[in-house]
Amino acid sequence: MTARRPRRSPAARAAATPAPPRLAARLHDTAQRLLAARASWGRDEARLEAELLYAEAAGWDRAKVIAEGAAPPDASTLARFEALLARRLAHEPLAYILGRREFYGLTFEVGPGVLIPRPETETLVEATLAAIAAHRRARRRVRVADVGTGSGAVALAVARHAPSAEVTGIDASTEALAWAGRNRAALGLVARVVLLAGDLLEPVTEPLDVVAANLPYIPTEEYEALPAEIRKGEPRLAVDGGEDGLDAIRALVAQLPAHLAPDAAAALFEVGAGQAGAVAELLASTLGGEASAVRTHRDLSGTRRVVEWRRGY
Ligand SMILES: C[S@@+](CC[C@H](N)C(=O)[O-])C[C@H]1O[C@@H](n2cnc3c(N)ncnc32)[C@H](O)[C@@H]1O
Repeated sequence: MTARRPRRSPAARAAATPAPPRLAARLHDTAQRLLAARASWGRDEARLEAELLYAEAAGWDRAKVIAEGAAPPDASTLARFEALLARRLAHEPLAYILGRREFYGLTFEVGPGVLIPRPETETLVEATLAAIAAHRRARRRVRVADVGTGSGAVALAVARHAPSAEVTGIDASTEALAWAGRNRAALGLVARVVLLAGDLLEPVTEPLDVVAANLPYIPTEEYEALPAEIRKGEPRLAVDGGEDGLDAIRALVAQLPAHLAPDAAAALFEVGAGQAGAVAELLASTLGGEASAVRTHRDLSGTRRVVEWRRGY
C-alpha cells in the first residue's frame, strides 16, 4: 500500500510554480547581453537600447515599457524583440533597426544608404539659423544650400525654423536623396526645400546667401578603426574624408567663390575635433579676410565643431 501525498492548497501550489520572468528582469538580462557584446558601452546605454528595442517590438513608447516592468512579457512580443535584438547584436545600427532618429526636435526616417544624423550636427543647424537671421535679406528671402544633405537633417531643420529660407539640399548619393525625399514629404516641406543630385555645389545655378555643409571629415586611417557598426552600416561616402579628412571640405571651399552672393554671404562647415584651425585658414585664404575673423562654434561637449565665415553682414 502506498501512502497518499497530502493535497496542497491552491495557495501552496501557486507558490511552488515558478513565476514567469517579469519584463524588468528580461530587460536587465538583455542589457547584460548587449554589454557583453560591446566593451565600449555603459550600463545606462545598454539598458536604454534594450527598452527601445522592446518598445519597438511591442508597439509601445519607452514610458510604457518602464511602467509595465512588473508584468510578464507576452510570447509574440518576445519573439519580435529577440529578432530585433539579434540584429543589434550583429552590429546593425539602432536607428536603422528602429527606422528613425530624432534630430533637432524632428523625426527623420533613416536606413541603409544614409548617415544617421548626429547630435553634434545640431550645432551646425543653430549656427546656420543665426546666420540666416542676421543676413540683410532675412526678412525677405535667404537662399540657403545644405551640401551633403544625407537624410535632409540640416536642410529640413533649417527650413522648418527659418520661414524666409529657400533651401536646396544636395547630395552625390541618390540613395541618400531618396531618404531626404521621404523626410521632406513627412515633414510637409516639399514646397520649401529643393533636393538635387550632384557633386557639391555643381548643380546649383542661383547665387547663395548661406552655405552649410556637414561633409565627410574623418581621416581614412581613423575611419578604418571605427566601430564595426559604422563601417558596416553607414555609407563610406558619408564618413571617410580622405587622408587628413578634409578632401571634400577643400573641394567645396574651392567652389564657393563662384557660388556665393557677392554682397553678403556666409559659409558654415561642420568639422572634426582638431580641424577647426585648418578649415578657418582655408576659408580665409580662399575667400579673403583673416583666419582669426573666422568664428567657431562649440558643440555640447566643448569641441570646436562648426567653422563660420561671413562677409557683408
Ligand atoms: C557626414 S554625411 C552628412 C549627412 C547629413 N547632412 C547629416 O548631417 O546628417 C555627408 C554626406 O555628404 C555626401 N557627400 C559626400 N561627398 C559628396 C560630394 N562630393 N558631393 C555631394 N555630396 C557628398 C554623402 O553622400 C553624405 O550624405
